[in-house]
Amino acid sequence: MSSAFPGLTIGDLKAKIAIIQGGMGVGISMSSLASAVAKEGGIGVISAAEIGFIKDYFFKNPQQANRDALTEEIKKAKSATDGIIGVNIMVAMSEFLDLIEVSIDAGADILFFGAGLPLGVPIKKIKNSNTKIGVIVSSDRATKLIFKYWDRHYNHIPDAVVVEGPKAGGHLGFKYEQINDPAYALENLIGPVKKALEPFQEKYSKRIPVIAAGGIYTGADIYKFINIIGADGVQMATRFVATYECDADMAFKEAYIKAKKEDIVIIKSPVGLPGRAIRNRFLEEVEKGKKQPFKCIWQCLKGCEYRKAPYCITQALINAQKGRFSGGFAFAGANAYRVDRIVSVKDLIEELKRDYINTFENAHNNRVGGIRDV
Ligand SMILES: Cc1cc2nc3c(=O)[nH]c(=O)nc-3n(C[C@H](O)[C@H](O)[C@H](O)COP(=O)(O)O)c2cc1C
Repeated sequence: MSSAFPGLTIGDLKAKIAIIQGGMGVGISMSSLASAVAKEGGIGVISAAEIGFIKDYFFKNPQQANRDALTEEIKKAKSATDGIIGVNIMVAMSEFLDLIEVSIDAGADILFFGAGLPLGVPIKKIKNSNTKIGVIVSSDRATKLIFKYWDRHYNHIPDAVVVEGPKAGGHLGFKYEQINDPAYALENLIGPVKKALEPFQEKYSKRIPVIAAGGIYTGADIYKFINIIGADGVQMATRFVATYECDADMAFKEAYIKAKKEDIVIIKSPVGLPGRAIRNRFLEEVEKGKKQPFKCIWQCLKGCEYRKAPYCITQALINAQKGRFSGGFAFAGANAYRVDRIVSVKDLIEELKRDYINTFENAHNNRVGGIRDV
């Protein structure tokens, strides 16, 4: 066993380092962050969620703006690096199918489907492309459901599984009472998901890497999830927010630096799901029952009951991306309060690698009786 930082193979994609930068909407991970991560050997992921907000015609024609902006951002990222560029597309988005086609046409290397079960996809398009598919799940149950469905209906299975635990940022795939229940801790989810994949890996003679996500913060955490828990790689998002290359406004990054542990809270998002965010005045007013009236230009999320919603989640996230916190809030992982400075993606990855290798060497030296001290 080598102490070198591990790589990650997904089908014919080979990432030099087993780190995926989690997709972050709205507009938090676009071409700047994704290409910086890919340059360092990881997998950089652009979030497709309402990415059209960067276009001045977004409010006139949001669907067209989303298509155009996503195409441009993928092409921009791909032209900045030879590394691996992915796109995160939420199943809950009304444009889910359309944006899969757009991403494949623009040359994305891999797509990650989250926030719902991808049980209806343009399979012909996927099969005829070289684009890999990763699915984001929170349980072995969801894994079995997706793989059984794809096997039965598509005679094809996804190429990777990201297991997202309850410490992640943004919308969570758990019930409120499960979030702090140790039975649902990420450490306990990986094994059952790996087991659920066994029959499919055998049937398709295909290795499906399992990637751990949610609360992974240091190189020591990466060591633990890969070498002790048995994941093939990790997905990290919170740490990538506090980088120069992250596509959010500086005020968004500073909200992470300023946040204390008690500021990281679970909210009920207007789409009905729990989400993790940094508490601020906007969220406090929503909690007190204050409504932020809005006109829905079109139903961007399938489950959004916009007539009952106290505010528009898309608008709130766009405001936050632009640093306008009077009208929005920042999603963040459980460890966001540990962020204390902004660094470059290169320095962050160097730090994670160093910490991983130190942890590996300490663990190995302890096992062989402290040879290092001899
Ligand atoms: C600001 C922010 C926005 C996010 N947006 C999305 C998203 O649009 N789609 C998604 O599947 N996951 C989203 N996530 C989840 C991340 O991709 C990732 O899996 C998770 O946050 C990993 O945990 P960590 O932040 O503790 O590293 C978001 C996370 C953050 C912090």
